[in-house]
Amino acid sequence: MGIKLHRGFESRPLRSAPSPVPACPTGRTGYGCRLTVEGFVVRACRRQDASAVLELWQRARSEHATTADRPDDVQRLLSQAEGSLLVADADGVILGALIAAWDGWRGNMYRLAVRCEHRRRGIGLALVRAGEEHLRRQGASRITALVAFAEEGAAAFWESAGYPQDREIGRRVRNL
Ligand SMILES: CC(C)(COP(=O)(O)OP(=O)(O)OC[C@H]1O[C@@H](n2cnc3c(N)ncnc32)[C@H](O)[C@@H]1OP(=O)(O)O)[C@@H](O)C(=O)NCCC(=O)NCCS
Repeated sequence: MGIKLHRGFESRPLRSAPSPVPACPTGRTGYGCRLTVEGFVVRACRRQDASAVLELWQRARSEHATTADRPDDVQRLLSQAEGSLLVADADGVILGALIAAWDGWRGNMYRLAVRCEHRRRGIGLALVRAGEEHLRRQGASRITALVAFAEEGAAAFWESAGYPQDREIGRRVRNL
């Protein structure tokens, strides 16, 4: 079995390690590429997109999410970690977003969300693949995605994207 094909991607088996994203022949942006033929591009978030991203996150917010999504936090992310916030843009409308963060050691993905009415079109997967390319360019060789245990749809998505659940290592957290 393979994942859904988009222009610029190779089919690969489920649960395999991420393979490099091939060079995209058209439409290069900061993160490479016009990633699909379905009318959207994945690009770095701009300051003026922040309110649309926050609205998207509010609508898609997991009941298991604990940290607030505030405008100041988004602006800080854009200033301090340029290119870490990716959006799927369809003619100026933000359909999806993802944080792909590099901490100098590992890559981490947070806050993946796609607008309800545009799900199952490959937008989530395109965001993740672009996030992987961004993180690979920073030096990452391993990426973690936070997924609530109870969210079966999200778990199925990450599984199909090649991110099986880690059975060896759990997460420990402390609020500052
Ligand atoms: C999870 C989410 C981002 C997926 O986005 P998406 O654009 O619909 O995902 P894609 O279309 O790229 O899906 C790729 C594959 O993932 C799997 N998948 C995606 N959503 C799924 C679901 N709800 N149930 C089962 N499998 C799913 C499928 O294999 C799918 O391929 P297919 O459509 O050919 O069957 C989206 O459902 C969402 O925003 N959910 C609410 C927020 C959330 O849970 N975010 C994740 C936090 S960790």
